[in-house]
Amino acid sequence: MNVSSERSVSLWMATVREWRAQPLTTDERADVVVVGSGIAGLSTAYELCRQGQSVVVVDRGAIGRGMTARTSAHLASVLDDFYHKLIGIRGRDEARHYLDSQRAALDRVEQIQQSEEMDCDFRRLDGYLFAASDDHVSLLEREIDACHSLGFSEVAWDAMPGAEDGGEHRCLRFPNQGRFHPLKYIEGLIRCIERDGGRLYAETPIVSVEEKGSETIVRTQNGNEIRARAAVIATNSPINDWIAVHTKQAPYRTYVIAGRVPSGTVTDALYWDTLDPYHYVRLQPSGAEHDWLIVGGEDHKTGRANDQPERIARLTEWAKAHYPSMGDPEYSWSGQVMEPVDHLAYIGRNPGNENIFIVTGDSGEGLSNGVAGSLILRDLVLGRDNAWAGAYQPNRISISAAGEYISENLTMPANLAEHLTGGEMSSVDELKPGEGGLVRRGTAKLAAYRDDGGELHLRSATCTHAGCVVHWNGFERCWDCPCHGSHFSVDGEPLNAPAFKPLAVAQE
Ligand SMILES: Cc1cc2nc3c(=O)[nH]c(=O)nc-3n(C[C@H](O)[C@H](O)[C@H](O)COP(=O)(O)OP(=O)(O)OC[C@H]3O[C@@H](n4cnc5c(N)ncnc54)[C@H](O)[C@@H]3O)c2cc1C
Ligand code: FES
Repeated sequence: MNVSSERSVSLWMATVREWRAQPLTTDERADVVVVGSGIAGLSTAYELCRQGQSVVVVDRGAIGRGMTARTSAHLASVLDDFYHKLIGIRGRDEARHYLDSQRAALDRVEQIQQSEEMDCDFRRLDGYLFAASDDHVSLLEREIDACHSLGFSEVAWDAMPGAEDGGEHRCLRFPNQGRFHPLKYIEGLIRCIERDGGRLYAETPIVSVEEKGSETIVRTQNGNEIRARAAVIATNSPINDWIAVHTKQAPYRTYVIAGRVPSGTVTDALYWDTLDPYHYVRLQPSGAEHDWLIVGGEDHKTGRANDQPERIARLTEWAKAHYPSMGDPEYSWSGQVMEPVDHLAYIGRNPGNENIFIVTGDSGEGLSNGVAGSLILRDLVLGRDNAWAGAYQPNRISISAAGEYISENLTMPANLAEHLTGGEMSSVDELKPGEGGLVRRGTAKLAAYRDDGGELHLRSATCTHAGCVVHWNGFERCWDCPCHGSHFSVDGEPLNAPAFKPLAVAQE
């Protein structure tokens, strides 16, 4: 079970069938074990298989159905936190390494889908960053200067195509970006991994990761072991790290809608505005009659809002104002990204380990970060140097990001204090079918949900990762942890890392 059990269904999930893979029921050995089968895990497995390594991939749920199935799939070397800010925090050299690695990631996707003959709707196209209002133009001025200083010289001023009322705002054009159907690409990777001898196991939750001498041992919930020379933990948020990396990134929920537009009415490109949270837009082709217009935004810190219908309504209103040819949304879904405090993902050796590697801190660029991660981890696992690895080192501390670090880390103490406050309702009798909420029972806080049939599901509200109080998510009908982004089903099963233990059962 994983986030594919949450209630919303993305355009991608609706158009590609789930890959069938068996759970692991015996012990296994391999050169490398990869935990997590999203873009990061499968891209790493692909690269290692191509290098002749024997690889086992395990996932707690269906293969490729984590956050990668909930993306909007802009493939961008544009940085959503802006290059001028990154240079301020990490310096020009590291910003240049980041840019180079993101460009290489896009090139790698293009190369793989071409050489492996994947039919995944990949296309190179322009990306447009447009000022949401006139007073945001100065932000674009700083960004184009920063891009040029890094050698991203193709970035140029332009007028907005497509968005019918956005043309008056100045915008920046970033050539050579990309888009694809993420699950068609994932399916292509799976076929290649299996062709190259890789073994994939679904519905196999991992509950421990250990390094013993020159060996790594990964244990499944059912007690099986996978022994390998190296382990890559690509669970989006690491399950093998209790707190260190988790203090350097914060989980945000983000929302997406997709509606039809008549073919040819919106220019096939990537679009972002400069608001915070920003809107992100792209097209997905769908035959001669219409395209899908995909519009995302309305992000909030995980667990901090439960007003999703209003957020979807605002997204729809914004989309229709900018793209009047768009029909009513036929898909709406949500997902989560992990925002690193200094804008770059954490990819490399897990702090304190020699042969355990992590890839996390995906941010709004998790696809290109996952692919860049696969190139970095391929080299590190094989004992080679990698020029970009320094920029992404998981054990780094960015003094210049101290303010962001402190503000994001206020979530945990504030949340832990919730253990002492009252519940959101005085009795579970107040819950109508389909509703969830927190209720106090003596010293404990309980997560209560009444299903559509009227049955009550009662669990401890204490997150099994590090003890925070989970919050109800009515849109996805799951429990979200505001501290480090774990999600749990209404029956307490972990759906999203870092947690891997269920919420404790509570008595009625
Ligand atoms: C709405 C939305 C829009 C986005 N838009 C973009 C975009 O336009 N461009 C972009 O580049 N990025 C975008 N992102 C981010 C990007 O999609 C993600 O960062 C990326 O897909 C994450 O890939 P991953 O491999 O790290 O994680 P996942 O795809 O989540 O894969 C992790 C896997 O690990 C498994 N797992 C977890 N715990 C365990 C365990 N204990 N045992 C075994 N397996 C486990 C999970 O089941 C899951 O399948 C977006 C994200 C969202 C949610
Ligand atoms: S995710 Fe860390 S405490 Fe819940």
